[in-house]
Amino acid sequence: MKILSKNNDTVKILSSPDEELLERGDYLLIEDGGNKLLIQVLDIEYADIPGILEDTLRELSIEDARSLSSVDPYSVGSLIAKLREARLVIAKFRGVLVNGELRNDVLWLPSRFNSRIIKASSSLVNELSRTSGRRTLLLGECMSEWFTINAESLDGRLTIITGKKEMGKSHLAKLLVLGLVEYGARIIVFDMNGEYGGLSKRVDGIESDLSNRLKVIIPSQNFKTSILDAGLKTMMDILRYVYDTPSASLREFSRVWYLAERVYGKVTLRGLIEALTKTQMNESVREALLSRLLSIEDLDFFDDENPQSIEDLLEELDYGGALIVDLSKSLPHGRRLVVEYFLSKLSTILKNNKYPPVFLLAEEAHLYLRDTYWDDLVTRMRHIGIFPIFVTNQPDMIPDSVYRQADNIFLFNFTNDSDLDYLAKASRVDVETVKRIVKTLPPRRCLVIGRVVNDLPIVVKVRELPVKTMGETKLFFTESQQRNL
Ligand SMILES: Nc1ncnc2c1ncn2[C@@H]1O[C@H](COP(=O)(O)OP(=O)(O)OP(=O)(O)O)[C@@H](O)[C@H]1O
Ligand SMILES: [Mg+2]
Repeated sequence: MKILSKNNDTVKILSSPDEELLERGDYLLIEDGGNKLLIQVLDIEYADIPGILEDTLRELSIEDARSLSSVDPYSVGSLIAKLREARLVIAKFRGVLVNGELRNDVLWLPSRFNSRIIKASSSLVNELSRTSGRRTLLLGECMSEWFTINAESLDGRLTIITGKKEMGKSHLAKLLVLGLVEYGARIIVFDMNGEYGGLSKRVDGIESDLSNRLKVIIPSQNFKTSILDAGLKTMMDILRYVYDTPSASLREFSRVWYLAERVYGKVTLRGLIEALTKTQMNESVREALLSRLLSIEDLDFFDDENPQSIEDLLEELDYGGALIVDLSKSLPHGRRLVVEYFLSKLSTILKNNKYPPVFLLAEEAHLYLRDTYWDDLVTRMRHIGIFPIFVTNQPDMIPDSVYRQADNIFLFNFTNDSDLDYLAKASRVDVETVKRIVKTLPPRRCLVIGRVVNDLPIVVKVRELPVKTMGETKLFFTESQQRNL
């Protein structure tokens, strides 16, 4: 291989077809003297040699006459054939290695003719992408060797996992959940498909080591709370954001709240409904509030007699664990209400410094997260100690600002250009890398970008998990049915 050109941070390398097979995302080292340049392979193309079109056309026209022996007195045929078969490797400049440290600010270029180009060893890539910390988390394979990240690099950060359907996003999310829990972290999971409960079982069906640290709650079934626990602010937020209640009606609601408190001693959903029917107010406002409170009652999430509280659940995770909120059985309204309750309670608890920070893993968050929460989650909530991990297959549903501020992104395959354009807004990587690598990633492989890999984009083949991941699509045409055909 020989360097052809370097234009901004794109490096082009000429190689012959019989060179070692490369994969997108592989790292190459260009050595010259004591210094080394690190580049990452994005693509391979045919080299555009002058006259190649004419040559190929001539070849095509004499193809039929192949049997005739051609005259080649100086045996230059094989040399010319090799030239015509030259390949062009397109790569990105990632830095200069100076005393084992990767530097972007050093101006140095290797010689085009005397430099040696070799594949970088995976241990070097692992070392350069390693962030500070001791809590290693085995992610999978990179360049045929095991690849680890540090759990610390997810701490206090905003992480996004995205990609097409069934590429392995939830699988990776589960891997991170297990890894973090093992190190004593506390995670709250908004589980849209009811698939995280399986983490407590090993593949053979026996309870896994971490099963006592995973708690699955199904709102309205094994978890109900009281109106009092939710509090006036959360109830107002629920009415405003989930039920689109106008502000005039909200003012009346807070009046009814205090009234119920005075009359019944404590606020309950029944008490609120009764106070609402008895007090004087505009009939249409009463109707509007009543229908909403009755609809909340129908959800069966509030139980003022035997309430549970999120504080008790968090206590149980004291030594690290995951609280899995199974939203798969909730209706859209119920889902948004539960999330509103959880987030608002969580921020109150954490703001009062009653509890250490938590990770929040949210699958398909656009289905239940109100618009104003996105910015809140990436700015304010980070300061009080909620670190989000968003998982989605619809990247355009996450606001731009979230991509711009994302610290870590795990990108699975996307073929659609408009999806890729969206991802290119992430500020931690260049557009070309995203577009060229992500388009061709096979399932279960992802491009890791951001702090977690020290800003060195890495393609990782995600490892298998020893527990039930339950991510399978339920099929109609099962194998047993096919046997009957
Ligand atoms: N690295 C892996 N090793 C073994 N199995 C995997 C791996 N990644 C994914 N799978 C399996 O592939 C299937 C799809 O994966 P997963 O549910 O994670 O996809 P997804 O991207 O979350 O899909 P969706 O967008 O539909 O939620 C699952 O059955 C999962 O167990
Ligand atoms: Mg999934």
